Amino acid sequence: MKRIVILFSGNGTNLENIIQQLHKKNFDGMEIEVVGAICNKSDAFGLKRAEKFGVQTFVIEHKKFTNREKFDEKLVEQIHSLNTDLVVLAGFMRILSPIFTQNISSVINIHPSILPLFKGEKAMEKSFESPMKIAGVTVHFVNEQLDGGEIISQMAIEKFDDEEFESFQKRMQELEYEIYPKAIIKVLKDGQVFHNK
Ligand code: GRF
Repeated sequence: MKRIVILFSGNGTNLENIIQQLHKKNFDGMEIEVVGAICNKSDAFGLKRAEKFGVQTFVIEHKKFTNREKFDEKLVEQIHSLNTDLVVLAGFMRILSPIFTQNISSVINIHPSILPLFKGEKAMEKSFESPMKIAGVTVHFVNEQLDGGEIISQMAIEKFDDEEFESFQKRMQELEYEIYPKAIIKVLKDGQVFHNK
């Protein structure tokens, strides 16, 4: 049994997709359980999505902490108490301090660009506006550099000259829903840890 926890901040469509595709399912003899969903916002819609599947939710509001380190200490404490094999970031809109990255050994994230291009905020918009003819999404290990950890997998789509942003965004999200569960299974199967350096 592999235990994963998902950290998110908002809508939580990736969170729901991961739960739907992986929670309490068996992959070649490896069962995966989503043992918790941690959110830094009490009004995030994703909380309802997790509850719908009976996944335990934890709200840890960053604004209640005096600094980033204290917030991260609480996150680490919560994650350790869940005894997880892998931490999955899915739209978790906080920069993580060394308190987090040095105490949690296996953390992955999804980013809506072909990394190392377009790190940081508004990556979807930057991918859309760039002169490139393709765009894509990346799953990567998390380290102390923003969107800078080792790349696990990537998928790309063709861009169309006359396409509206909303349609492009939808196609990028579909890629996320396809690539992230597969990457989680791969990382759990490979048993890769200590990739946060
Ligand atoms: C996704 O586009 C992800 O790539 C980015 O944040 C977004 C989260 O969306 N890091 P959702 O909350 O999963 O709907």
